[in-house]
Amino acid sequence: MAVMGIVHYGDPILRKKCASVKDFSNLDSLIDDLYDTMYEAEGIGLAANQVGLDLNLFVIDISHTDEKEKPRIFINCEIIVSEGQSVFPEGCLSIPEITLDVTRPEFITCKYQGLDKEWQEEEFSDLLGRAIQHEMDHLNGILIIDRVSSLEKMKVNKELKEIKINAEKKVSKRSIEKRVVL
Ligand code: CO
Repeated sequence: MAVMGIVHYGDPILRKKCASVKDFSNLDSLIDDLYDTMYEAEGIGLAANQVGLDLNLFVIDISHTDEKEKPRIFINCEIIVSEGQSVFPEGCLSIPEITLDVTRPEFITCKYQGLDKEWQEEEFSDLLGRAIQHEMDHLNGILIIDRVSSLEKMKVNKELKEIKINAEKKVSKRSIEKRVVL
């Protein structure tokens, strides 16, 4: 078990469009670590770039709200159909303490790969559909603050600035540590 550090708003990897997963050979332990990190942080979803990895994959577990749902892994996921519209308050592990009402399509159809590399096509709605869209946004460099009006964003401006300053400090500390090691 390994809990990884979750990067916060201000870290450039959260603004990157993540690379497709091509090598499936060493994903098992990485997926386990993603789950561990997500559970430790009490989130229901976590994208790879939230732990600093440039990979198109995310995990979701909403089994505490719906026991029919098992923990799920989505690799190279694409939304191929989206319909309807709903508003729901969303938080994000990379933007702590902030909740915003986000408008998103209500029904989606996704194409994605599992750990066995097989492509699946599946329809989603409700909490799972929303969580998938939130995590897909992460992998495309989009955050919930980009999904609300500038007025809504302004209301959390002070908190955002603080998160950003701290995240940028961590990023520069990381690059100095790297230089020392090399
Ligand atoms: Co998030």
